[in-house]
Amino acid sequence: MTRTVIRGGLVVTAAEELHADVLIEDGRIAALAATGSSAAEAWSADTVIEAGGHYVIPGGVDVHTHMELPFGGTAASDTFETGTRAAAWGGTTTIVDFAVQPVGGSLREGLDAWHAKAEGNCAIDYGFHTIVSDVNESVLKEMDSLVDSGESTSFKLFMAYPGVFYSDDGRILRAMQRGAVNGGLIMMHAENGIAIDVLVEQALAAGKTDPRYHGEVRRELLEAEATHRAIKLAQVAGSPLYVVHVSAASALAELARARDDGLNVFGETCPQYLFLSTDNLAEPDFEGAKYVCSTPLRPREHQEALWRGLRTNDLQVVSTDHCPFCFAGQKELGRGDFSKIPNGLPGVENRMDLLHQAVVDGRISRRRWIEIACATPARMFGLYPRKGTIAPGADADLVIYDPAAVQTVSAATHHMNVDYSAYEGRQLTGRARTVLSRGTVVLDDGRWLGRAGHGAFLRRDTCQYLT
Ligand code: URP
Ligand code: ZN
Ligand code: ZN
Repeated sequence: MTRTVIRGGLVVTAAEELHADVLIEDGRIAALAATGSSAAEAWSADTVIEAGGHYVIPGGVDVHTHMELPFGGTAASDTFETGTRAAAWGGTTTIVDFAVQPVGGSLREGLDAWHAKAEGNCAIDYGFHTIVSDVNESVLKEMDSLVDSGESTSFKLFMAYPGVFYSDDGRILRAMQRGAVNGGLIMMHAENGIAIDVLVEQALAAGKTDPRYHGEVRRELLEAEATHRAIKLAQVAGSPLYVVHVSAASALAELARARDDGLNVFGETCPQYLFLSTDNLAEPDFEGAKYVCSTPLRPREHQEALWRGLRTNDLQVVSTDHCPFCFAGQKELGRGDFSKIPNGLPGVENRMDLLHQAVVDGRISRRRWIEIACATPARMFGLYPRKGTIAPGADADLVIYDPAAVQTVSAATHHMNVDYSAYEGRQLTGRARTVLSRGTVVLDDGRWLGRAGHGAFLRRDTCQYLT
């Protein structure tokens, strides 16, 4: 048996903060005891990690990533190897990625393809949601067995991207009805893609080809309308609903109203919507392409509404929607036609630190930081308490976090396989010093000690966040 003690840190979970030592046995947390207490002093250990002056927090749980996603005629530039390593550098120790059902194929085929990409390559633990791009009778049956086995207990549908991932309302309703029975959580990309495609065509015909028009045609109203429709469809089906990458204040208002009505409706936002805006999309010389994602960045005023939603729990989760494309050769595919810019931003390495900056800035409390970035994502997607907290029996996925370290975010120093940073030059206070995945130190003081293949596939329970 291997025993490690983390000594002298401030343990921060979603529920409490305490000066405690943490005992790890064989990759799991065995006990916590007040620092200096006779119980803690009595522990013997093979390894002692000093954490004085640091926080000891659960490893981040990022439930929305797209490693190696084929999209827009190219593929997201992070592999499972590079992307999970970068995640760990940023204090994230679990990801849940999206396996894509090929149109005309089965969910099984999609999952097999994603297992093949991930297995043996991940530095941290990982799970899969399934993107359902073709709802039919056999797919509905597959959903049942995937939920039963825990291989994939959540399913993303798209009201956007006609001809790619899009599902019409009837297909969405059928999938929701199935989720209502089998317990699978429906995740929704809520944008009215049919209307957006009309506006795209009109904008291009009028010579509006610059990246900033991506933000203009993907109108806020079309996110709010789709969010409203998704909520109503879920209500008809009697199923819970998780709306991904919420960016518009009016879409958030739809979620808040539904939650006030007592519905099991949940929302996630992402750092790009909290820290970036349409000002970035309007950067000259095609630089705005770096910020093209969907839902799009919104005018700055929306940021305040999103922060408020995180404080009031109308939004429960911050994930990254990490979907990186290099500027050179990938984003550039859309020069002269913004609709050909591959959609997505890098961020898996930055999320924990950006959110810690919000703690420093007084926007959210330390415990809320852990709640929205670790505990609730784990609960929402059936990983709790194995992931997302520090408690006896949990996996020892831990971050010893230096709250005073100052860093300047840059593509020159980040570990994501992408040639730019969406947060280039931004100064942040706070950084992961030591990262453990199931008790193994993968990062220590700027030294990478992890390995591809350490990360294991996670079977998951159904949503543990229902009221
Ligand atoms: O722009 C984005 N979000 N790209 C990834 C695919 C998606 O819709 O999540
Ligand atoms: Zn989406
Ligand atoms: Zn996504």
